[in-house]
Amino acid sequence: MRAVVFERFGEPAQVRDVPDPAPAPHGVTVRVEATGLCRSDWHGWQGHDPDITLPHVPGHELAGVVEAVGDRVTGWRPGDRVTVPFVCACGSCGACAAGDQQVCERQTQPGFTHRGSFAQYVALDHADVNLVAVPEEMSFATAASLGCRFATAFRAVVRQGRVAAGEWVAVHGCGGVGLSAVMIAAASGARVVAVDVSPRALDLARKFGAAECLDVSGVPDTAAAVRDLTGGGAHLSLDALGSPVTCAASVGSLRRRGRHVQVGLLPSESGTTPVPMARAIALELEILGSHGMAAHDYPPMLELVRSGVLRPDLLVTSTIPLDGVPDALEAMGAAPGAGVTVIDPWSRTR
Ligand SMILES: NC(=O)c1ccc[n+]([C@@H]2O[C@H](COP(=O)([O-])OP(=O)(O)OC[C@H]3O[C@@H](n4cnc5c(N)ncnc54)[C@H](O)[C@@H]3O)[C@@H](O)[C@H]2O)c1
Ligand SMILES: [Zn+2]
Ligand SMILES: [Zn+2]
Repeated sequence: MRAVVFERFGEPAQVRDVPDPAPAPHGVTVRVEATGLCRSDWHGWQGHDPDITLPHVPGHELAGVVEAVGDRVTGWRPGDRVTVPFVCACGSCGACAAGDQQVCERQTQPGFTHRGSFAQYVALDHADVNLVAVPEEMSFATAASLGCRFATAFRAVVRQGRVAAGEWVAVHGCGGVGLSAVMIAAASGARVVAVDVSPRALDLARKFGAAECLDVSGVPDTAAAVRDLTGGGAHLSLDALGSPVTCAASVGSLRRRGRHVQVGLLPSESGTTPVPMARAIALELEILGSHGMAAHDYPPMLELVRSGVLRPDLLVTSTIPLDGVPDALEAMGAAPGAGVTVIDPWSRTR
């Protein structure tokens, strides 16, 4: 099969032939029909993820058709249309027993712990625990975003962030995760302040329901600007980029007893960043993390998509072939994109 491969961190990736994957006894292989380019792929390529061994095939946000099934899989057959949370849980550890598959103790992640979906086929573990059926009427490009950024934003806003109607929600960074969060928070009845440095990203945020759009290029104090716009601060604020600047701005954006949710990965292997803890104490802030979303939590989100309340299809702004991935990864380090880029691994052969 054809796949995107990198041999060294940060050096140009290549597209070449590699052996097809085989399913584990508890796993499946999926023919990848669409796979999203997420900033986590860029972090992996830059060497920020200690799970990656070289050479490596990135890609973790995918949808496709089950191709082959391991002997121990009971719930899935070749031909099934599926997506998968990028955190593939084991189904049997303490976290899984508690229903917290998104933080499984023995998780695997395509595109990080093993070869991923920037390829024509991908192997996925523990299929009975992790696969999610994609409805017939949903396109694969739309379904791909449910494998990572849209589902991650859903959990970050609804479950970890506990959004409520009428609250102010600040979203720092309006890329794939942030725009999804804007749409989900607005659909929950919140008033959203979208924060970005890209006018194109903010145009999309407005289209997806943001009440206020704040271009912070050249703004000396983003947190103060958000507090001004929201009459004292947001109830909930997300760092949906992942940087020392956006993390501190998000925490600084909050009113008393507000909730900060860190979704963006920090640009280093340690993932550490300074947080203004004096403010967290004095204002009784909550500092939370959010990590993907378990397969069993998908049905309420899928129902909101089915009924048209949530429109992940609108997030997709471009589709590229596998050959376009090396340059697209490179571009993520420089200028910001806008919306979600989806890869079609079969576009040369269709
Ligand atoms: N926690 C999880 O489970 C999880 C899941 C998916 C992605 N992520 C992480 O979430 C982050 C976002 O991913 P993405 O694919 O949406 O990224 P993206 O590249 O699509 O979007 C990032 C956005 O941030 C904006 N930005 C840049 N500098 C800014 C600044 N100073 N202030 C405000 N905005 C700024 C960019 O213009 C862009 O619109 C990444 O770190 C990714 O690794 C985490
Ligand atoms: Zn587990
Ligand atoms: Zn992702």
